Amino acid sequence: MQDIAIIGGTGLTSFPGLKITHREVVRTPFGIPSGPITHGDYCGKKIIFLPRHGAHHTIPPHMVNYRANIWALHDMQVKQIVAVAAVGSINREIYPTQIVIPDQIIDYTYGRSQTFYEKDLSQVKHIDFTEPYDKKLRQNLIQAAALASIDVFDGGVYATTQGPRLETAAEVNKLANDGCDIVGMTGMPEAALARELNMAYAHCAMSVNWAAGRSNELITLEAIRECTEAGMEKVRKLLEKLMELV
Ligand code: HPA
Repeated sequence: MQDIAIIGGTGLTSFPGLKITHREVVRTPFGIPSGPITHGDYCGKKIIFLPRHGAHHTIPPHMVNYRANIWALHDMQVKQIVAVAAVGSINREIYPTQIVIPDQIIDYTYGRSQTFYEKDLSQVKHIDFTEPYDKKLRQNLIQAAALASIDVFDGGVYATTQGPRLETAAEVNKLANDGCDIVGMTGMPEAALARELNMAYAHCAMSVNWAAGRSNELITLEAIRECTEAGMEKVRKLLEKLMELV
């Protein structure tokens, strides 16, 4: 039974090591997911893989159909979602290429479809989102990192901004004042939608740059790409170990 799905982010649009069994094109009441859902075998475990930005990384963060992605995974009986995401470091203790397993989120996005509860309003639900991440899945990610001897930052607040542009230095200072440690563009509404459908969800975030104003260097796509490549190798190793634990 394939009860775990990995949503790949920037740097993880394909999944080396995954033995693909089949791909499934699906439609949901909320539209079409980011691409065909890939079923496969990873380190002896059946998993589902879905690249959030599409197979060729053509869907920017504000245009991802988060509802279709989460609905499709739920329809396939997925119970746990590991969401891989590239982020910028606000907290100076989190160095680029470090993996972060955040424990809180602040949502700064706007204009995104945030909920499944839109049509049948007799079903309106106010989910408890005090702890946005699944405790057990977070612990498993942290343990997998320890088994793989990977240095992770345990905890932290993930600021989700609207994008697709990066932030101003003043915006990053504001996020820091709000208590945010990392900043990315895809954390929400993905995490909340998973909670609405009672699916365990945790982020495996990887810092790929210092957030705006946190270093003297310009944030270039080239530098982000280099960092992503170096860091994603660690993400793959961590996920490999995770398969022994889930
Ligand atoms: N800001 C927002 N999203 C990001 C960043 C950033 O600095 N780096 C990677 N995703």
